[in-house]
Amino acid sequence: MSAIAELRHFDAEDDALLFEQIAQDIQEKGFSINPCALPAALTESLYQQVVHMHHAEFEAAGIGRANEHNLNEFVRRDEICWINGDSAAGQQWLQWTSALQTYLNRRLFLGLFSFESHFAIYGKQDFYKRHRDAFAGESNRVLSVVAYLNHQWAHQDGGELVLYKDDHDMEGSRVLPTFGTVAVFLSEEFPHEVLPANRERISIAGWFRVNGSHHELVDPPR
Ligand code: OGA
Ligand code: MN
Repeated sequence: MSAIAELRHFDAEDDALLFEQIAQDIQEKGFSINPCALPAALTESLYQQVVHMHHAEFEAAGIGRANEHNLNEFVRRDEICWINGDSAAGQQWLQWTSALQTYLNRRLFLGLFSFESHFAIYGKQDFYKRHRDAFAGESNRVLSVVAYLNHQWAHQDGGELVLYKDDHDMEGSRVLPTFGTVAVFLSEEFPHEVLPANRERISIAGWFRVNGSHHELVDPPR
């Protein structure tokens, strides 16, 4: 086997283990936190992609769907750029999430139909207040995926994702946004927030959706 084929081979085995872990976690508790889980080469090329992108390609993040797009810097203060597969890194990411989608559909019969994702840059002290990614009956986002691209993130850097069990949970579980960490959770179930960080913080947030199209109404992209 060539060195590259060997590398791919190991990656595929690692992915299968990770995908199975995610499936089990989702089944048992609805969320899955996996430090150091995204393949290192993929994480690094995504990181390089963000670092080399022009600042102008990012836009202030809004809340809600395109037609009700609201900017509210009291709720969130990050900048985003949608991933469309224009770059090699973006394509690799979409291949990886597509493999995850296929795995979860076979394993859990989730009927995941499409995927959308964006890079997000949180400047120093930026945040995203407690929110849900979807509300029952209002959206067809079913599964949220977040991946982190931050080298050498320490506890004192802050910027944790806090995942709450329900509306009454005030403590939550904290996830450090360290390089390669992958968090997956049911979009309607878990309120969550991003705490302010003491340095720039880069993440990818993505959502798997079920097919919400009916009659002539084509489901809007976001
Ligand atoms: C989001 C989100 C979490 C993170 O974009 O909806 O919750 O840790 N992001 O970046
Ligand atoms: Mn969110």
